[in-house]
Amino acid sequence: MARIVLGVSGGIAAYKACSLLRLLTESGHDVTVVPTASALQFVGAPTWEALSGKPVHTDVWSGVHEVPHVRLGKQADLVVVAPATADLLAKAAHGLAGDLLTNVLLTARCPVVMAPAMHTEMWEHPATQANVETLTERGVHVVPPASGRLTGADTGPGRLPEPEDLYAVCARILEHGHPGVASPTRVDAAHTSRSAATPADEHGLEGRRVVVSAGGTREPLDPVRFLGNRSSGKQGYALARVAARRGAEVVLVAANTSLPAPDGVTVVPVQTALELQDAVLDASREADVVVMAAAVADFRPARYADAKIKKTHDPADPDAAPTIELVRNPDILARLVQERGDDASPVVVGFAAETGDADGSVLDHGRDKLVRKGCDLLVVNEVGADKTFGHDDNTVHILRQGSSHVVDAGPASKDEVAAAVWDAVQEIL
Ligand code: C5P
Repeated sequence: MARIVLGVSGGIAAYKACSLLRLLTESGHDVTVVPTASALQFVGAPTWEALSGKPVHTDVWSGVHEVPHVRLGKQADLVVVAPATADLLAKAAHGLAGDLLTNVLLTARCPVVMAPAMHTEMWEHPATQANVETLTERGVHVVPPASGRLTGADTGPGRLPEPEDLYAVCARILEHGHPGVASPTRVDAAHTSRSAATPADEHGLEGRRVVVSAGGTREPLDPVRFLGNRSSGKQGYALARVAARRGAEVVLVAANTSLPAPDGVTVVPVQTALELQDAVLDASREADVVVMAAAVADFRPARYADAKIKKTHDPADPDAAPTIELVRNPDILARLVQERGDDASPVVVGFAAETGDADGSVLDHGRDKLVRKGCDLLVVNEVGADKTFGHDDNTVHILRQGSSHVVDAGPASKDEVAAAVWDAVQEIL
C-alpha cells in the first residue's frame, strides 16, 4: 500500500481521473485527491470525496493546524497529476505555490508523474514544451499525451492517456522506482534524424548479451494450414548482424525465416508464438538487451485438428464453412517489461507496425503503444500496401519512454535502420 496524492487540474479530462482514482484505490493504495479550484468546475468535490473516502481541499487554508501543504507532499510515496494542464505545468516549472496542489509539488520528495492534457496548439506551444523540458530535467516523469479526439470535433496530440495506461505507469514507478527507462530522460519536441545524431560507437556492444526475435509466427490449424503474417525477418536479421558486428553475443530467435544465419549469431528456430515466448524468455535471463522485432500473432486457433479439416459436401448447404475459434496469445513484450527487476535490465525494445487512421497518425499510435507496453524504446514503422514487408529498406521512427524526442531513420537499408536502433539502445545502456 502506497500513499499517493492524485493532483487534478482544470481540464475536461478530469473526468478520466475518476477512473484512475478507482484503479489506484482498488489496488489497495491510500489516495488523497488534491484538485485545483478549476478542476472542481469539471468534477465536483463530492465525487472525489466519495471515490477516495477522504475530504478534498484546493487551498492551503483548510485544516491549517495539520499543515497539509507540507504534510501531504512529504508523506507521499507518489504524486501523480492527471490531467496536468498547460497552466499547471507552467506553475510547477516555475515553482509557484498559489494553491494546495502546487504546494504539494514543492514539498514532495517522492517520484512525480505528470500527464499533460490540453489542445494540440497549447501542447505544441514552445512555452509548454519548455516547461515540460524543465520538469523532465528535474526528474518529473512526464507521460506524453495520446492522440485522438479532443474536446469538440478536432483531433491531434493532447488527449489524456487512458486511465489503465496511467495506472500502469504509476504501478511500475511504485514497484521499480522508474516507469521503464534505465535513466532519466529529457523531453524534446523536435525530431532528430539519425545522420544528425551523435556518431555511433561501433564497438559499443562489446561484452553485451542481446536477444533479437525476428520473422513471423505461424499458428497451426491442422497439419497443412496455419495463420501467419507477411514478416520476412529481414529487419530482425539486420539487427542481429549489426549487434554482432558491434561486439555483442547475439541469440536470434527466428520464426519461420529462410535467411542465412548472420556470422557469429546463434539462431534458435521457432514456429509458434508460444515457442517464441519460451525461447525469448529463456535466452533473455542473462541478457542486457531484448529486441522484439518478430511479428507475433496476437491470436491462435483454440484447437489444433490432428487431421486436415475437410470440406463438407452437404447438398443442403453447399457453402458451409467452418468457424475457427481463436484464443489470445501472451504479449511477450509486455511480459518482458513486467518481469524485469528494479535495475530495469534488460533494456527492452519493441517494434510497432502502424498505419495512420482517423484517430491519429502512425506516430500518434506509436506513442500510445509505447506507454501501454512500457518498453524502453519503440521502433515504429509505417506499413500498408507496398511498404516494409519483405523490402530491403525501411523507414522508422524511434520513440523513447518518457520522452517526446523522436529519432527518424530512413528511408535506408535495414542494416542502417538497425544501426540507428542500436545507437538508441547504447544511449540507454
Ligand atoms: O501490439 P503489437 O502487436 O502491435 O506490438 C508489437 C510489438 O509487440 C512487437 O515488438 C512484437 O514483437 C511484440 N508482441 C509480443 N507478443 C505478442 C504480440 C506482439 O511480444 N503477442
